[in-house]
Amino acid sequence: MKRVFLETYGCQMNVADSELMIGVLERAGMSLVERPEEADAVILNTCAIREHAEQRVLGRLGEFAHLKQRNPELVVGVAGCMAQHLRARLLEKKRVLDLVVGPDGYRDLPELLRRAAHGPVAEVRLDRDETYGDLEPRRGDSVRAWVTVQRGCDKFCSYCVVPYTRGRERSLPLADLVRQVERAAAAGCREIVFLGQTVNSWKHDGHDFADLLRAANDIEGVLRIRYTSPHPADVSDRLIAAMAECERVMPHVHLPLQSASDRVLAAMNRTYTLERYRGVVAKLRAAVPEIALTTDLIAGFPGEDEADHRATLEYMREVRWDGAFLFKYSARPDTKAHRWPETVSEAEKGRRLAELIELQHGISGEIHDGRIGRIEEVLVEGRGRRDGGQLFGKSRTFRTVVFGDDGSPPGTLRRVRVVGATPVTLIGESADAPRSEPLVTIGG
Ligand code: 5AD
Ligand code: SF4
Repeated sequence: MKRVFLETYGCQMNVADSELMIGVLERAGMSLVERPEEADAVILNTCAIREHAEQRVLGRLGEFAHLKQRNPELVVGVAGCMAQHLRARLLEKKRVLDLVVGPDGYRDLPELLRRAAHGPVAEVRLDRDETYGDLEPRRGDSVRAWVTVQRGCDKFCSYCVVPYTRGRERSLPLADLVRQVERAAAAGCREIVFLGQTVNSWKHDGHDFADLLRAANDIEGVLRIRYTSPHPADVSDRLIAAMAECERVMPHVHLPLQSASDRVLAAMNRTYTLERYRGVVAKLRAAVPEIALTTDLIAGFPGEDEADHRATLEYMREVRWDGAFLFKYSARPDTKAHRWPETVSEAEKGRRLAELIELQHGISGEIHDGRIGRIEEVLVEGRGRRDGGQLFGKSRTFRTVVFGDDGSPPGTLRRVRVVGATPVTLIGESADAPRSEPLVTIGG
C-alpha cells in the first residue's frame, strides 16, 4: 500500500482535513498520486450537509466500481461527514467500498488502509478529545493556509447534520495554533484563515477567540488573517475590538443569518433574533468601517411561509450583504427538522431561492460597480486559469480581483485600480510596484 488518490468534496474544513490526512499518509511512507488509475487506494473525503452532496459521491463510487473490476486489489475508502453519517450502512449499500472512516479516525488512516486491503473496515467512533493538534498537515503551495482551530459543533441547529457527523465542539490549544501559523508563514503562506464550524466560540485554557486573533496578528511573515464561519450569537465585543485593532485581521466577516424571520430562526434553533443580528452588524460596521459582510440563507425551511420569505428579502435590501451563499432546504436524517413535515414544495423552494439569488445578484453588482475607480490592496495568488496574462488575488474584503500580469510574484501585496466589475469579480490594473508589507493600517 503506497500510492493514494484523494478527492475532496464539501467545505473548507474538508479541504483542511484532506491536508491533515496527506500529512499522516506521507509520514507513513505513502505518497499521493494525481489519477485514481495509478493508485493502490482511493479515498473520497465527503460532505453530508445536503442530499445533493451525498448523491455526487455515490455517483463517483459507481465510477470506482468499474476501476475495481479492472484492479480488484484497489482499496476504496470514504472519509468525512458522509462516512460518519451513513456509517456501516455505507459498506452494505456500496459493495465497492472497503473502508469507511469518520472525521475522528484520520490519525490511524495508514493502518486502516492496510487492514481494508483484507476485508471491509469501518472506523466511525467520534472522539471527544481528538483535535489532531499535534499533527502537522501537508499544506498546498498556496499563499493561503487554512488552519483548523476547532472541530465539531455544539449548536444543534435543527436542520444541520454537522453535530452528528463531526461530534462535540473541541478547541485546539493556543500553543499548537501559534506553532501551526508560524510554520505556515515560514513555508511562505502569507494569509491565514482560521477554520471552525462556529470559529468564534474557540476557547482554550482561559483564552478566547479575540486572544487568538491578537496572537496571530503578532506572528512574523503573516500579512493577512481571516476566519470562517462565526456564529452570530457568539460575536463578542472583545472580538469586534480585536478586528478593529489588529491591522492584519482583514475587514470581512462571513456571518450566516439563515433566515430573517424570528419564527423560522427559533424553529432552526439559531438562538438569536433578527434584532440581535442587526445589532452585531451595526457594531461591526461602526468598529470597522470598510468591512464586507457575507452570509448564508436557507430557502424553504419547514414552516417557512410567504411572509417569512418576504421578511428575508426585505432584510437583504436593508443590510445589503456583499455576497451570500443561498441554499434550498434539504432534510437530513438524524436532525430534528427531519422529523417535521416539509411544508414547502420543491418547486416553491426553487422559486424562493431564485428570488433570493436575483436580489443578491443585483445588490452584489451594485456594490461592485461602486468600487470602480477605487484602489484595492490585493494579495497576489497566481496566474488566472482562463487567461494566463492575468494575475488574480483577493482584496482586503475577500473579493476576487484580476489584473494584467506585471510580474508580481504570489504572496506580494499590490495596489490595483478597479476599472471594471461583475457581481463576483473586480477587474483592475496595477497601480504601483510590488511590495510585501501592508499598505493600509486600520485602528491601533
Ligand atoms: N439544508 C440546506 N442548507 C443547509 N445548510 C446547512 N444544513 C443545511 C440543510 N439541511 C447550509 C447553512 C449553513 C451552510 C454551511 O449550509 O446555510 O450555514
Ligand atoms: Fe450546523 Fe448550526 Fe453547527 Fe453551523 S452552527 S455547523 S449550521 S449546527
